Amino acid sequence: MAPTSRTASLLLLLLTFLFSSSSSELQRILHPAKNDGSLSLLVVGDWGRKGQFNQSQVAEKAIHELLLILFDPLIFIPKEILQNVQMGEIGEELDIDFVISTGDNFYENGLTGVDDKAFEESFTNIFTAKSLQTQWFSVLGNHDYRGDVLAQLSPVLQNIDSRWLCLRSFVLDAEIADFFFVDTTPFVVKYWTEPENHHYDWREVSPREEYIDNLLKDLDEALKESRAAWKFVVGHHTMRSVSEHGDTEELLENLLPILKENGVDLYINGHDHCLEHISSRDSSLHYLTSGGGSKAWRGTYIPNDDNLQFFYDGQGFMSMQITETSAKMVFYDVFGQPLHELNLAKQFHSYL
Ligand SMILES: *[C@@H]1O[C@H](CO)[C@@H](O)[C@H](O)[C@H]1NC(C)=O
Repeated sequence: MAPTSRTASLLLLLLTFLFSSSSSELQRILHPAKNDGSLSLLVVGDWGRKGQFNQSQVAEKAIHELLLILFDPLIFIPKEILQNVQMGEIGEELDIDFVISTGDNFYENGLTGVDDKAFEESFTNIFTAKSLQTQWFSVLGNHDYRGDVLAQLSPVLQNIDSRWLCLRSFVLDAEIADFFFVDTTPFVVKYWTEPENHHYDWREVSPREEYIDNLLKDLDEALKESRAAWKFVVGHHTMRSVSEHGDTEELLENLLPILKENGVDLYINGHDHCLEHISSRDSSLHYLTSGGGSKAWRGTYIPNDDNLQFFYDGQGFMSMQITETSAKMVFYDVFGQPLHELNLAKQFHSYL
């Protein structure tokens, strides 16, 4: 591990402790904006397939180019390096501050333990681009819950790769924006009542009702306390979606009213393996799906009650460029081609 990244992760840990004492129960992590007050980041989801299904193509191409310069282009180059990706390049271009993962970090069944090599095979050895050697903030997806969840949340993983941070629910305070990460898997009733042949790791979660009630209460408090210009909520499951999984009813019922009441600007999720932008008919909320980190091309389209602005049924990722008064979100395909843009503006407000 490079000394700079170790220092950065120690600093992050320290800040975590210093800023976790507000009245809401949700853990707060501070990640300062750039010196000019702006912030930029990438969002990717549903990626953990050891480089398959264009996962590594969504990750970077500099290594491949380097290998071509160093070696004869005719020698064997592993497929995951050949299929290189654009996240690295866009990350470089935007000088990103961090990366958000919307979950399903390790297929099919999460991690087996802190020593599961899938961690390196799907994360460390895949997202190798220079610009991606920054802090990652991750939530858990339903596939992560099919493994050892406590392993994925364990700080031991930070010794293997200092970029990693996955928590159940927390607030990332990035000065001009607060990101509220919400653990959405426990909301979905069928994982509890009809797990089929899957095993879900509900340790420290069960009983469901109590967990969800507490989480919603903590989230509501944290949202009400927030003084940031922008409020973004990040979860794994869809709220609105026209792809395979469609809407998640439990979230529409329990989570959505809190988001609308507190003027949340964006709900950002994965779960459906595509890129989507849907806008709310009766509020200023936008639903953004960035779940195109590996297996995609489902070929499904389900009409939605809210306004569909953009749907790409393939792989890709999203960028965010934020200032106190503007937020620009761009979706890209695996070639790094911009496909769709959402621009939001806010009046400058002073709390003094
Ligand atoms: C990889 O991406 C290309 C370009 O979008 C697409 O045509 C191809 O089907 C993808 N491969 C897989 C296995 O999804």
